[in-house]
Amino acid sequence: MSPQNHILPNQVALVTGASSGIGRATALALAQAGAAVIVNYIGDSKPADDAVASIENGGGRALAIAADVSNEAQVEAMFKQAIDAFGTLHILINNAGIEKDRPFTEMSLADWQQVIDVNLTGQFLCARAAIREFLRRGVQQDVSKAAGKIVCISSVHQYIPWAQHANYAASKGGVMLLVETLAQEFASRKVRVNAIAPGAIKTAINRHAWGTPAALDKLLQMIPYGRVGEAEDIGNAVVWLCSDAADYITGTTLVIDGGMTLYPSFSTGQG
Ligand code: BGC
Repeated sequence: MSPQNHILPNQVALVTGASSGIGRATALALAQAGAAVIVNYIGDSKPADDAVASIENGGGRALAIAADVSNEAQVEAMFKQAIDAFGTLHILINNAGIEKDRPFTEMSLADWQQVIDVNLTGQFLCARAAIREFLRRGVQQDVSKAAGKIVCISSVHQYIPWAQHANYAASKGGVMLLVETLAQEFASRKVRVNAIAPGAIKTAINRHAWGTPAALDKLLQMIPYGRVGEAEDIGNAVVWLCSDAADYITGTTLVIDGGMTLYPSFSTGQG
């Protein structure tokens, strides 16, 4: 039994992009903590159904819902279906994200727009739907001290500029100020909004960066802690951030990167 067991009982969580990677691990961690989980996905339903089956096999409750987070009508329909199924919503994990890396002068408007649409507009649309439900329902003292919690999965690239990833870095910089602004706007109504900024986490999105010994070697030079992150490193932190143990935390970014943002090139003392 994990020590996190049942710190989120009677709560309902929606995780976007939950059929793989960080989203999947986060959905499983939330379920292990006692939350009912909506597993949002796009495209092939099988990985999402697998995530639901894993949660149910562990004794949890879950439901897969397909929706493109950048599509307003689909997002609205997803939240309606989720709330109809589980009664309300307490937690949103804005996780769905994509990369379309290109040298800047070769980046098409479509490359730019798609990344902004999913990574930033998708977070806006889902946060808006979630906050509307949090405000409608208000605080349930026996469930949580907050009316609702949002964790936006950002990236170390909300701080670190990234050549050939202008669309991605711009989207994550946008997420940072979206989080801070929502936290400011809704704190008085007991809605907490935070970001998690993962560094290099071993998922399909960055397989090229860890999938060969040479690439892994190069990547590890950027990570003082000496290992690539696992999706569970993020899932565990999300659970804590959504729990009442973190009730006074809003508008902040928790960096989970094994030290990637600590300027590792300065670690020898030379300057
Ligand atoms: C990106 C990964 C990258 C990591 C560290 C993440 O936001 O999605 O592709 O490995 O940042 O650079």
